Amino acid sequence: MSTTRRSLLTALLAGGLSPELMALGLPGFAADAPELAPLRGLSGERLDAPHVAIEGRLPAGLSGRYFRNGPGLMQRAGKRYRHWFDGDGLLQAWALQDGRVSHRARFVQTEKFRAEQEAGRFLLPAFGTAIAAERPVRGPDSVNVANTSVLLQGNSLYALWEGGSAYELDPATLATRGVKTWSPELRGMPFSAHPKVEADGTVWNFGTANGRLAVYEIGADGQVRRHAVLDVGAPAMLHDFVVSRRYLVFLLAPITMDMAAVRAGASMVGAMGWNPGGSTRVLVVDKADFSRQRVIEMPAALVFHFGNAWDDGRMLRLDYVESVPLPQFNGAAEQIMRGERPAREVSTLRVLEIDLQTGRLRVAARDEAVEFPVVDARVVAQRYRFVWYPTAVDTGARWGFNGLMRLNIETGARERFSFGADTVVEEHVLVPRPGSTKEGEGWLVGMGYDVKRQRSFLSVFDAMALAVGPIARAWLPYWVPYGFHGRFYAA
Ligand SMILES: [Fe+2]
Repeated sequence: MSTTRRSLLTALLAGGLSPELMALGLPGFAADAPELAPLRGLSGERLDAPHVAIEGRLPAGLSGRYFRNGPGLMQRAGKRYRHWFDGDGLLQAWALQDGRVSHRARFVQTEKFRAEQEAGRFLLPAFGTAIAAERPVRGPDSVNVANTSVLLQGNSLYALWEGGSAYELDPATLATRGVKTWSPELRGMPFSAHPKVEADGTVWNFGTANGRLAVYEIGADGQVRRHAVLDVGAPAMLHDFVVSRRYLVFLLAPITMDMAAVRAGASMVGAMGWNPGGSTRVLVVDKADFSRQRVIEMPAALVFHFGNAWDDGRMLRLDYVESVPLPQFNGAAEQIMRGERPAREVSTLRVLEIDLQTGRLRVAARDEAVEFPVVDARVVAQRYRFVWYPTAVDTGARWGFNGLMRLNIETGARERFSFGADTVVEEHVLVPRPGSTKEGEGWLVGMGYDVKRQRSFLSVFDAMALAVGPIARAWLPYWVPYGFHGRFYAA
């Protein structure tokens, strides 16, 4: 008997099975971790809540659109994706204006999504799930799920995925327009999900393919100013980078790729390996001249996300979140997709200082469980103090984060808030207060899930006073699958 059947039967015999838990009884999805219920995913439907109930009072100056992206569809015809990163992109748009809130969500109509929606089953391989292709795979965009983050430029909203092109959508309706090509010579070159936007609107991004690293500099007008493709032996997975005043910095982890396994039909995740004795290469690229590069080695470390970086020409300081090594990370991402709680192995933050004259590195580590770092958009690539994170505060057996933390990386002072045991907290972004100029002046806005009510919400904090708790929460009449990243655009 399968684990699912057994756990359902156990619950039935105990006589306490609620209709909600019954609904969790999907093939291949255990029913005993209710905080994982949103990972059941949706079926391709649209969500609309034109009038969202507000608890507390929305700040008068908080007005704009908050877009989020994440994996929204996890299974078809009884087959579930194995890895959380596989899910098809679900774009959410919150609109906040005059104290009123609305929400909508649409699946990005990628080539893969449309074909599989029509067929009612999976037809193409996914990042972490080996599925034999029943349609031609002409390049990365044939399997692009557009599920990781967003970027708005003018009247174009982009759904981003690190393995392929950005998908362009209409920001008002979330209707999909199609694959974005930044310039003809970069057609089909991946455009990562973590572009960095400086205060003047300059966008920096990268993409990797076959060990090569494409670097993009795009103006606030959306025109590519400069690009290059660097032969740096990039690993098979490179998720994020960081930008200081003079440099682009990449941490290249010792991830190996078994090409024979790929040819034999393994998924990317199945073919990836981890060399724990290898090194993570710190690649520092001069923004003014991409051919000027420097590589410094550090012990093997897997890093998904960075907060920010700044340099004064002699010293470069940046912060990042270090994950558990790749095999444990992927194991946990597969367990939660089966509805199982992984062992609590946490990602924790680091502040790295690079002496640009001697090449010496200094790493300071902290032990709070965190992920999804964000900084104030006004200080990207400049000297900064604050980083905000979802964090875990006495979560007990539950999976995920249940609180928020603000850290001053210069002094080490922190401020935290915990929602308690029955809430899962997702990424929260910093929204500057209109008319303010100081770093951190504004609100922290993000989403979460109430395990007992089985509803997703938007929460709003004073970003410099997290400990007092949310100023307001907007409660959706439904739940939404957990997302990855978003951006807020003030009206
Ligand atoms: Fe990310």
